[in-house]
Amino acid sequence: MRTDTAPTISRHDYQPYPYRLTQVTLDFDLDPGQTRVQAQLQFEQAATSLQPLVLNGQDLQLESLALNGRALTPEQYQLNDDTLVVHPDTGTFTLEITSLCQPDKNTSLMGLYVSGGKLFTQCEAEGFRRITWFPDRPDVMARYRVRIRANKQQYPLLLSNGNLLEQRDLADGRHEAIWEDPHPKPSYLFALVAGSFDCREQTIKTRSGRDALLQVYSDVGTYNKTEWALDCLTRSVKWDESRFNLELDLDRFMIVAAHDFNMGAMENKGLNVFNAAYVLADADTATDAAYRAIEAVIGHEYFHNWTGNRVTCRDWFQLSLKEGLTVFRDQEFSADMLAQGLDGAEAESARAVKRIDDVSTLRLAQFPEDAGPMAHPIRPESYQEIGNFYTATVYEKGAEVIRMQHTLLGEAGFQAGLAEYFRRHDGAAVTCDDFVSAMESVYAKQNPGKSFDIFRRWYSQAGTPRVQVSLSYAAEDQTCTVTLRQHNPPVGIEKLSTPPQAKPPLHIPFALGLLGQDGQALPITHEGKAADTIVLDLCHEEQSWTFTQIPEQPIPSLLRRFSAPVIVEFDRSNADLALLTRHDSDPFARWEAAQTLASHQLLALVQAFARNTAPEVDPHFIGTWRSLLNDTSLTAAYKARVLSLPSQRELLEKTTPMDPLGVVQASRYLRVELGKALVEPWLATYHANTDGDTPYQPDPASSGRRTLKNLALNYLMAAQHPQAEQLALAQYYDARNMTDRMGGLSALVHYSTSTECGRALDHFYEQWQQDALVIDKWFTLQAVAPTTSVEKIRALMVHPAFSMRNPNRARALIFQFCLNNLQGIHTPEGYAFWADQVLALDQTNPEIAARLARAFDNWARFGQPQRDALHQALEHIRQQPKLSPNVSEIISKALN
Ligand code: PHE
Ligand code: ZN
Repeated sequence: MRTDTAPTISRHDYQPYPYRLTQVTLDFDLDPGQTRVQAQLQFEQAATSLQPLVLNGQDLQLESLALNGRALTPEQYQLNDDTLVVHPDTGTFTLEITSLCQPDKNTSLMGLYVSGGKLFTQCEAEGFRRITWFPDRPDVMARYRVRIRANKQQYPLLLSNGNLLEQRDLADGRHEAIWEDPHPKPSYLFALVAGSFDCREQTIKTRSGRDALLQVYSDVGTYNKTEWALDCLTRSVKWDESRFNLELDLDRFMIVAAHDFNMGAMENKGLNVFNAAYVLADADTATDAAYRAIEAVIGHEYFHNWTGNRVTCRDWFQLSLKEGLTVFRDQEFSADMLAQGLDGAEAESARAVKRIDDVSTLRLAQFPEDAGPMAHPIRPESYQEIGNFYTATVYEKGAEVIRMQHTLLGEAGFQAGLAEYFRRHDGAAVTCDDFVSAMESVYAKQNPGKSFDIFRRWYSQAGTPRVQVSLSYAAEDQTCTVTLRQHNPPVGIEKLSTPPQAKPPLHIPFALGLLGQDGQALPITHEGKAADTIVLDLCHEEQSWTFTQIPEQPIPSLLRRFSAPVIVEFDRSNADLALLTRHDSDPFARWEAAQTLASHQLLALVQAFARNTAPEVDPHFIGTWRSLLNDTSLTAAYKARVLSLPSQRELLEKTTPMDPLGVVQASRYLRVELGKALVEPWLATYHANTDGDTPYQPDPASSGRRTLKNLALNYLMAAQHPQAEQLALAQYYDARNMTDRMGGLSALVHYSTSTECGRALDHFYEQWQQDALVIDKWFTLQAVAPTTSVEKIRALMVHPAFSMRNPNRARALIFQFCLNNLQGIHTPEGYAFWADQVLALDQTNPEIAARLARAFDNWARFGQPQRDALHQALEHIRQQPKLSPNVSEIISKALN
């Protein structure tokens, strides 16, 4: 392990690498105990003078080193913990390196490691240096030829990037395979997999008529669970052709499932490695949400083949170049899949469901990050450990910044901009600025005299902008004036500088509609066109627009479609919100109005509990909920979103100081009251959305019905309706798919007070103990149950099925408890438990430990006694002697 004082790396210090790498040849002698790697690297001078050649390495043992065929003696090179420096004497040379690594001791899951008896690699961001000494940076791209040798019985399949050239048996029960990747790539896209797998495959014709082989590899015995994954992959290929005009550039595209994986999946060229959770699915074991998540992740990794692989990042500060863009693309893919076969308002409402889910994620994960000690622009300025910057900001806010460009350019303009980006940069490692310039070239043509000068600030400015809205109506001349004023408060380390630095305004596309008092749309004339929704370009601190021919005092519908990642400040009455909730023609804004109403109600309850006054639920609020529940024009999926209360964590963010126990109380109270007040419609909804004997399909319509039915069940359970427990038990035991089974069990775990709940949990374990992904759900249910205490979690940690080494299992139990069980974690024992687990994980897997370490970034915003107790827990972690650089960076920033 490295020491705890990692240097800070700054974006402005970028220097090009002084050599080009023209060819990489790797020979692997695989053995889980000790793997030998022989690397032959052909370099060519790129700088004007000969420079020392600096290679990265980590946890490697050097066996031999030769320059142009001559062995180098230790005096001829410098070797330390993480670099190897060689002094070439010619501009073109070959370096041969033989090194050893130990896959079965590698618990970090970076580099070459063992999972389930198979061997996998993970190289992004800096894992390749654990395989061999190498210029391990994304701007050094090379062609790879890879020979893999291993025991044939244990490792019948030997995979790497590109095309299989040769495969043959060797002596001693070993065999070898030779792979060649025709596409130059950076080391982070390298992959190797060895082991025994089931394979599901299909040959497709790409648009230009080429045959391509698509394959999904998974554990032996899981063939029946990969149908959906292969289907998602096929649809991804087709969608990227039809919507983005991008064709698969490979003859063979492979996906391999691994049970031990730090993240969701990895886009290695032609050989994606996936967390098994995003591959395996069948009706009995995967929920509707899992099916959708698999679709999104398979799409995401596939779309990286162009946005990330064909054009990659110059350095890791540019991470959002590939991630923001690819998240935007996978969001659009998922939305298009939901809207398939629909048009007009129906398609729009189907797409809005995806938008609602994405914005919820953004607000839950990214807004708090952007307001806390880890706040950073989507293109960070500095880091200590790049692994800590795979953040909601780089990914989700990054996608919002791409989406705003899409809004400003329109679909056709955006596609033209992207085509220009590939025309300019195909095969290169580039920057976020290069991307914006390509988009700007189209924007400037569409809007003579305009540029992205202001828009570019989204890449360098952290924090969520606030947009204050004011509106005035002049009845005498039927004009309405809308004023937008943006405010970009200092965040994170910016708060430390005195005086606080002024932050310039951003370019914010602000979508707006107006409604009459009867809820009907009032068309707005803007830039010569009349429309129900217009987009205002807010580029200064304050701007006003006056609209004419507005016949009555309008009710504004603000930030439609969530057209920018900002917080809108506009005081309005619950009556106006209720009107929008019933009538807004923009399905996103309509949901937003309902959520705002619910937040108002919940915050009033939090206050009542804090002051020890009688909690009251506004009858108008219940009335609004009733009318939504009875609205037959809404789809089930949409209705389920509108009628869900904001999550406890989202609500917690809105309390000042943060009051976790008040939030728990208020949320529970309102759910009970809504359950009781609307018993009849909830029951009717439950029954109307129960599909009889139709076989399970993960399609949007039937999964929407299941979501709504399960929501109804939760409200009925909350209200302790006399039939509710029977319904939940019957739904659990008689379920014919995992969505219903989990829906029943989850309702019991959250609300049942009888012994039936424990029996059902035991039954579930008995039934599914062989299936790791299902047992993850079993752990999660118990982790988030309101009755679960630290003691209970500690008991679950000694359950034979628990393992800290498996990231999915640690996430299922430990992360879920720390993040999503507010009443369990916000106790003195809870905080001590959290600190213990961060330290325990740090011994084996610093990347995962650092993620858990971020759970209380926002400790300073809590009230007492939580604030002091959290501070103490953070200090306790900081004082440990051997923290990884990953955890150390997080904790020192939190305590800054
Ligand atoms: N690049 C991966 C993705 O977003 C994420 C990842 C990062 C996976 C680092 C592993 C390690 O698709
Ligand atoms: Zn990605």
